Amino acid sequence: MPGPGYRFFGDEERANVMAVLDRWYAGREAFDDPGEGEWVRRFERAAAERFGAAHCLGVNSGTSALVAALVGLGIGPGDEVIVPGYMFVASIAAVLHCGADAVLAEIDESLTLDPADVRARITPRTRAIMPVHMLGAPSDMDALRALADEHGLLLLEDCAQSAGGSHRGRPLGTLGSAGTFSLNHYKVITSLQGGFVLTDDPLVFQRAYSFHDQGWFPYRQDSGRGDLLLGMNLGLGELHAAVALAQLGKLDRVLGRVRDVKQRLVRAVGDLPGVRRRHLHDPEGECGTTAVYVFDDAAHARDVAARLGTRTLLDSPTHYYGGLPALTAFGRGDRSTVPFRAPGGRPAPHAFEPGALPRTDSVLARSLALATGVSDSYLGPGFGVHPGSSDAEIDRAADTFRRAVKGEALT
Ligand SMILES: Cc1ncc(COP(=O)(O)O)c(C=O)c1O
Repeated sequence: MPGPGYRFFGDEERANVMAVLDRWYAGREAFDDPGEGEWVRRFERAAAERFGAAHCLGVNSGTSALVAALVGLGIGPGDEVIVPGYMFVASIAAVLHCGADAVLAEIDESLTLDPADVRARITPRTRAIMPVHMLGAPSDMDALRALADEHGLLLLEDCAQSAGGSHRGRPLGTLGSAGTFSLNHYKVITSLQGGFVLTDDPLVFQRAYSFHDQGWFPYRQDSGRGDLLLGMNLGLGELHAAVALAQLGKLDRVLGRVRDVKQRLVRAVGDLPGVRRRHLHDPEGECGTTAVYVFDDAAHARDVAARLGTRTLLDSPTHYYGGLPALTAFGRGDRSTVPFRAPGGRPAPHAFEPGALPRTDSVLARSLALATGVSDSYLGPGFGVHPGSSDAEIDRAADTFRRAVKGEALT
């Protein structure tokens, strides 16, 4: 089952899609109509306003958003970007495809970057820190901001799993130099496929825009301030933008329901021996899409996961650095796993081997995510509830989890 926004699909999405089909408007390719009415532009304006950013760039995925943002920030060969060992493969792949080196850092029991470990990995080549706000919760942005300021580094927030979340009242995605989002169908809101970049910096926007649209200046104007770039074609399509706009209008409703569901589940689970909830850097600002429990003992966590028909977060392959064979091979010097990558980059030896981040390995092996909004057995939350669950269903899931933790028979 997909993310919560998908469950809120209704008349608005349908009407917007039909409006696109009625008009068959070509979007940014329509040179003879500058496109003030296009859906992509409307979505970008609405998202910039909703999240409080100067600029929003609609793209065709969260992965494209990361690449466009990295290009926008001018990150490339010779640069290092510090990325958490628990992320999504795209968070690392985007860095490597830009020619930069991804340097992995430990997470802590918030399942996000541990600032003390980030500090230890800063070198003269470090250009940026990439907090990935995993499973709907903000990273420790106060500490990461302080580190970035101290060392003159850029902050690029990967908010793919945390649209609508905030940190001390400020929307995630607006706390650094740029923020990236996914609109795939597992996310808080969805256009089935899509993504976007937020930034306040006009030059970052201009470069990201140019890269995502064949080198054009924003909105295909033929002049502007900034760099000339050879670009790609990574734009959000009109149909997806029309759905995204309808979903954006529902973001607060979606979050409200998901947070209510999570609150009920967590209250019904209550306290349990040998397990606690993950640390949240800002409980008010988390999206509530999952309820993560961290066990004292990895074998206990694995046993509970098996009984519930789900998996620990260590067994969530594309989100754990050690579960990415192509990355491990790349770290060993096999450049064929990252196409177009010139030989000779130098990730630290064995930096990508399983075991390279012992604390991350330990936390993930002991963590179980219950679904409260996002249900995705591959990511981890394969057991739990969803925004459509009744109170009785939520209480029943909580009871099942309690029984599994205590080793009791499941009813
Ligand atoms: C943390 C994170 N970053 C980036 C992405 C990439 O988004 P997309 O699937 O839209 O390319 C995802 C998607 O799962 C993600 O979870």
